[in-house]
Amino acid sequence: MPTIIQEDTPALFGGHSDARPRLSPPLEYSGSLDAYDRQDLTPVIGTEFEGLQIAEVLQSPSRDRLIRDLAVTISTRGVVFLRNQDITPQQMREFAERLTQLAGCPESSGLHVHPLTEEGSELGDQISVISSEKQKKGGGLTHQLSDVSRFASAGWHTDISFEPVPSDYAMLKIHTLPKTGGDTLWASGYEIYDRLSPEMASFLERLTATHDATFFHDEARRLGNPLRKGTRGSPLNHGDELTAVHPVIRTNPVTGWKSVYVNKGFTKRINGVTKDESDVLLAYLFNLVTQNHDAQVRFKWRKNDMAIWDNRSTWHCATYDYAETRTGDRVCSLGEAPYLDPQSKSRRQALGERP
Ligand code: SIN
Repeated sequence: MPTIIQEDTPALFGGHSDARPRLSPPLEYSGSLDAYDRQDLTPVIGTEFEGLQIAEVLQSPSRDRLIRDLAVTISTRGVVFLRNQDITPQQMREFAERLTQLAGCPESSGLHVHPLTEEGSELGDQISVISSEKQKKGGGLTHQLSDVSRFASAGWHTDISFEPVPSDYAMLKIHTLPKTGGDTLWASGYEIYDRLSPEMASFLERLTATHDATFFHDEARRLGNPLRKGTRGSPLNHGDELTAVHPVIRTNPVTGWKSVYVNKGFTKRINGVTKDESDVLLAYLFNLVTQNHDAQVRFKWRKNDMAIWDNRSTWHCATYDYAETRTGDRVCSLGEAPYLDPQSKSRRQALGERP
């Protein structure tokens, strides 16, 4: 059974009672971002802000209110896009730390150190360099899958779900771009949950799944870096096992909405059913994500653009359709150990929309 949010539940938060969120859902938007022009890019996912500079938000006297409202907006809309950011990797780290804290992450959660991050990297342990050159050498998710697949959709994933305490938010700034191509797509986990029949949803709500990134051992060998086995942003994330069990449906503590939480990149097995049944269920859920373009948003990067997304309720997929260099910096913060609050609602239910 997935963990549920009740004081007297023995196995709270994957058995990690110290990895529960500090705030009760949902957080409320206070209006501090209303001064900025914003455009919802699709009805269900993705919002672009104009003129909002994260470095200025960090200096603002209303800093915490602005950042909390950004957290609510990111968690509600799945992903937020900010053009032409003048921001250093250190400021990205500072912002990511404030964002996760103001959104109520557990005391024990900080910024993630990716198991493949090079020791002594000049940008610091908590910045992952997203690089086409590294991708060619190491392969990443698409290497694992593209050996056997010619589908661009092979790379759909949510970040680091193989950790017992996975990511709440991630921010990515792309500073070096090909002339064309290299778009990134995001899909809404809330919307995919809303496309399940009530019977299927309630069946899946009783299940957990195993997430596994042991393929990173091979990738570390290809890259020539030892795997990071120490603490990776939470005392619960350490060692070289790189597997975790999470509920198939989880509640996002910021919105209080339910989301599907299995992904093509890392989820290998739905537990408690046969392997054949697990394969069929996962294939169905992955098809819902990859074949519903009305649950997705596609972003065309320009130099120094930034995306900030909620990894609890979205998936994303890079597009490798270019030959030139494409490079950026990514910071991932850690949230709570995933849980399902049986009282939580679906997005459409909460917004009073038709199921
Ligand atoms: C990621 O998977 O976090 C990177 C996405 C991208 O390179 O567009």
